[in-house]
Formats: sequence, structure tokens, C-alpha cells
Amino acid sequence: SKIKEVVFVKSSSRAKDCPKHDRPEFAILGRSNVGKSSLINALVRKKDVALTSKKPGKTKLINHFLVNKSWYFVDLPGYGFAKAPEAARMDWSAFTKGFFLNRDNLVTVLLLVDASVPPQRIDLDCANWLGRNNIPLTFVFTKCDKMKGGKGKRPDENLRDFKQFITENYKQHPPWIMTSSVTGLGRDELLLHMSQLRNY
Ligand code: GTP
Ligand code: MG
Repeated sequence: SKIKEVVFVKSSSRAKDCPKHDRPEFAILGRSNVGKSSLINALVRKKDVALTSKKPGKTKLINHFLVNKSWYFVDLPGYGFAKAPEAARMDWSAFTKGFFLNRDNLVTVLLLVDASVPPQRIDLDCANWLGRNNIPLTFVFTKCDKMKGGKGKRPDENLRDFKQFITENYKQHPPWIMTSSVTGLGRDELLLHMSQLRNY
């Protein structure tokens, strides 16, 4: 499951402009600022393969990265960015939903959930939308390094609440993995999980 090479292939503004290929593909989805681009960088151990920002709304297009000349990561714009104009949010759902409904080689969606905040309804809505459309998903909890003291709950408490939230909605819950792009937590586990899903 080692990553030897990552090559940026293409940014697409429409699902139908995405690269056509016969390789396995993993899409990274989640709220704006959850750490999608950072996770890609952490997995490939490079700082700036995918562009990141403190401000939400950084990634605006569908970005394909080819890994080891054999499979793809897809970095996507985030959802639920409250400050985005209404028009931009609508646009997001149209083109990103179009992407998911038409990708034959999509192995699984890595649905990123911020472990440093309490469970968010929009994440469950997204999981449910994927489920209704028979799109496999893996929950990837991000920012597990952010151990808050004092006010606010700790990541393990947020995770406990989120898991409860999921099990109320699923008979058999999707796999989930705890990660941190800062400490590298979960990196090997996630890469192994992905290699098992693509059978090599
Ligand atoms: P959009 O492209 O805007 O949808 O955001 P994104 O989901 O790609 O988030 P991005 O990777 O740009 O990260 C957003 C912010 O969260 C940055 O300031 C990152 O440094 C920070 N961040 C990402 N992952 C982690 C993590 O595991 N731990 C901590 N502490 N911060 C993180
Ligand atoms: Mg991004």
C-alpha cells in the first residue's frame, strides 16, 4: 500500500470533463475546511500536492491525482460552506452530485468528518444521500489531534456522539478510521483499507 508517486492530472469544472480511465478511484468529500486537501497531502507525504487553506472554500474544482500510475485520488470542493453565496452552494451540489452518479470506477467515497466539533446534521445528510444512491462510503474522522481541554468536547467524545448518530440511521454502519494530518494518525490504516478495497 506504499505511495511512490503522485501526479496531478486535471482540474475539472464539470463531471463530464473528468478524466476517462479504467482505474480505481477514491473521492474525498466533506464539509469545507474539514481537511480534505490536507489528508491527501498527509497520505502522500507531500506538503503541497493538494492546495490547502485556513479559509473554507479553497478547493473549487474536481481535482484528479494519479497515484503510482495505477489509481486515483479525487479532491473535491467542500459542502456546507455557510458563507458561500446561495448560488455557489447550489452550483456545488449540481456538479458534485453529477460526479458521484456517473463514476463507474469509484471504489469508495472517503467522507471526512471533523472530530473536533460535535456531530453535524449535514454530514449525516451527505452519508444518507450516498447511501440512497448506492455509493459506498468510509467515514474518515479528521483533526483527531485537536484535544480540547475545558469548554468544548474532546474528539473522542465527539466521535462517540457521531457514532451514536450513525447507528441510529444504519443497520450496519460503514467502516470508519480516525486520522490526523498533523500527527499522521490513521495514515497506514487508511492506506491499507484502500488497498484492500482495490484488491492490490
Ligand atoms: P476546502 O477545500 O475549503 O473544502 O477545505 P479542505 O477540506 O480541503 O480543508 P484543508 O485541507 O484546506 O484544511 C483546512 C484547515 O484545517 C487548514 O488550516 C489545515 O491546516 C487544517 N487541518 C487539516 N487537517 C488537520 C488535522 O488533521 N489537524 C489539525 N489540527 N488541523 C488540520
Ligand atoms: Mg480543499
